[in-house]
Amino acid sequence: MSPTAKTNMPVLDNFWMPFTANRQFKAAPRLLAGAEGMYYTDVDGHRVMDGTAGLWCVNAGHGRRQITDSVTRQLATLDFAPTFQMGHPIAFEFAERLAAIAPGGPAAGLDRVFFTGSGSESVETALKIAIAYQRAIGQGTRTRVIGREKGYHGVGFGGISVGGLVNNRRVFPQIPAAHLRHTLDIPRNAFSKGLPRHGVELAEDLERLVALHGAETIAAVIVEPMSGSAGVVLPPKGYLERLRAIADQHGILLIFDEVITGFGRLGTPFATDYFGVVPDLVTTAKGLTNGTIPMGAVFASRKVYDGLMTGPEQQIELFHGYTYSGHPVACAAGLATLDVYAEDGLLTRGAELATYWQDALHSLVDRPHVLDIRNLGLVGAIELAARDGAPGARAYDVFVDCFRKGLLIRVTGDIIALSPPLIVTTDHIDTIVSILGDVITRAA
Ligand SMILES: Cc1ncc(COP(=O)(O)O)c(C=O)c1O
Repeated sequence: MSPTAKTNMPVLDNFWMPFTANRQFKAAPRLLAGAEGMYYTDVDGHRVMDGTAGLWCVNAGHGRRQITDSVTRQLATLDFAPTFQMGHPIAFEFAERLAAIAPGGPAAGLDRVFFTGSGSESVETALKIAIAYQRAIGQGTRTRVIGREKGYHGVGFGGISVGGLVNNRRVFPQIPAAHLRHTLDIPRNAFSKGLPRHGVELAEDLERLVALHGAETIAAVIVEPMSGSAGVVLPPKGYLERLRAIADQHGILLIFDEVITGFGRLGTPFATDYFGVVPDLVTTAKGLTNGTIPMGAVFASRKVYDGLMTGPEQQIELFHGYTYSGHPVACAAGLATLDVYAEDGLLTRGAELATYWQDALHSLVDRPHVLDIRNLGLVGAIELAARDGAPGARAYDVFVDCFRKGLLIRVTGDIIALSPPLIVTTDHIDTIVSILGDVITRAA
């Protein structure tokens, strides 16, 4: 049945919604119908400011004509073509353009690009590449992967195995993995502006896991340089550098999951650039196409790529890939997205606004229930005290109330996460903080 003119409400029964309390949502739905620039419009015509870039992905803002036009042209020219033992120019063109802005710059050599369909697929791909690489260089016993508590690496079996969010893991079997401790330390680091001072020693967990499992069993360690989904958990100063050094010492590959931090979120093109720490593999998705067409990309170092380019030339080097790897329409979206980023300076714009953003968020320090405020680049989090016996309920109420007042935020447990499109202005930031401040103040 189509929506009725009276309510604008479609039948809600059939769509099994992801990561959603389906029954709760369907009893009181929030439906978005349009989007332009910094705003969504809901089905009743109300404007809602996008404080989360959709789901951390619409970095250039909504409704970018260049992307629409590029996608439309591509659909009319070559709608689909396989990339298994076949190719099409636009996939190579997009990979070359990505290589030119690859994480860490030319010296890092992270310029071999494997296309996927999502962040989860990028993670599975990177983990498999890491294990395959170790085997190709004669380290076939290295099949264990190390992740971190509170990490989110999508929903594939590899991703949940290295992930550290219990609800995503408890029901499902996993591949051999082990975990570093997370770096959230509110007692020592509350209200840090930017990177927290305390906690570099947590990187030594990698040494402990090597001592426990043996380096010869470990293929790779994967971390989000900045954890987004767990509620914005930042790496302490010096932490990533130390992780890199320990991984090197033991022949362990380092994977940065930049599905959120990629494409300008921290005020640099990638977190790799922000931290000046170069991993062996980088996973991306989301901002790759400005969220318009599903796509992911894994950047691999030449060391890793060349390590796998061995054996007879007629032999497939990596038995892995997706029907939609290098989808021509996604590539067209991605190419136009890179143009928009370059023309509007969006990959570095966050750096100009970071201090304003930081000050604005931290102005909420004295609101009731606020336990911590965290920020980096154009990411922010406000952690609220949980209501007695009802974890998550307070932040959920804040989320619902903000939406009513025209602001889309994201909540995880009792943490409010913010990541506006990188086109955000200081006026928008003022609006976000003003609505949020009022709503938090009134939240019981
Ligand atoms: C760091 C990270 N990795 C992987 C993913 C999974 O991406 P997708 O939802 O596109 O599969 C996400 C999604 O939020 C993410 O934040």
